[in-house]
Amino acid sequence: MRVYYRSLKPLILWRGAARPLDWAQVFGRVAPVELEIGLGSGDYLVARAQQHPERDFVGVELEWEGVQRALRKIAGAGLTNVRVLLGDARPILWRVIPQQSLARVYSLFPCPWPKKHHHKHRLFDQRQLQLINSKLIDGGEFYLLTDHAEYFQWVLGNITDTGFTAFARTAPPQVNTKYEQKWLAEGQTHFYELTLRKVQHCAVPLLEDIPMETYRVKTFDPARFQPADVREAVHIAFKETRYDPARQIAMTRVVVVEDDLTQHFWLEIVREGDEWRVRPAPGCGVVPTVGVQRALDAVRAACEALG
Ligand SMILES: C[S@@+](CC[C@H](N)C(=O)[O-])C[C@H]1O[C@@H](n2cnc3c(N)ncnc32)[C@H](O)[C@@H]1O
Repeated sequence: MRVYYRSLKPLILWRGAARPLDWAQVFGRVAPVELEIGLGSGDYLVARAQQHPERDFVGVELEWEGVQRALRKIAGAGLTNVRVLLGDARPILWRVIPQQSLARVYSLFPCPWPKKHHHKHRLFDQRQLQLINSKLIDGGEFYLLTDHAEYFQWVLGNITDTGFTAFARTAPPQVNTKYEQKWLAEGQTHFYELTLRKVQHCAVPLLEDIPMETYRVKTFDPARFQPADVREAVHIAFKETRYDPARQIAMTRVVVVEDDLTQHFWLEIVREGDEWRVRPAPGCGVVPTVGVQRALDAVRAACEALG
């Protein structure tokens, strides 16, 4: 049996953390901070953190599998200047990363989503470039490396009004990541490199948590309870409700989709004296947003409609 050591210490549980993060507190020192978007298995992040012990490094990755591999490499290298955030880079940039706090942001071989109807998933449209600009210090850099010529042209076409000057070139293999090796093995000999230097600040406001209002309702009937889905600027889908009659607790599984953030979580309707308490289930790591509040409102309305 193969045994791997993996410390969870570098993992920042950003949903439960005070937002935006405070790098001095996170790393216990003041140093230039670099951020990688889509770190994959962490090859580049770990190599760069080893080369630059005087800097601090943050990696964001959507998939737990990649994060696990990166944690293993960080532990193996004994690094203390690296942290990892699991999740979609977009809400993390909007809500978690402090303004004008990064010396460098980079993304190596981001998914190019080649099919036209998938373009909406692409990272680095004009708005996201403005968002990245707002996180960089003056003179900071965004570096992008891709294997995909059409995606490269698409990003180049998004640079207008983003406060960056651009340096573009074709580049030889240089970063030695899993995906660079994959494309080399498939016969690709050069890649496309874009360096954007911040010359003007884009003021993009941080998205902040809202104060969450939870409710008490007089009546609740689990047999007839059916909150209505919402399809407006915010999409809310109530997926299922389970009820435990012994403990008098109902749990409703909800998906809330807002422009930057999709959240899957449970709302709880729990008996308290002669009333029912409606609130996000403790421990489900929900980020308090307008959409979550709308879901709570819809559950309250569904309870009261049966009264
Ligand atoms: C093609 S892989 C490249 C991985 C690595 N940079 C390399 O060079 O081997 C793209 C990575 O970006 C991650 N990713 C895709 N969309 C993301 C998002 N919205 N936020 C964070 N990571 C994302 C994927 O899970 C995947 O690990």
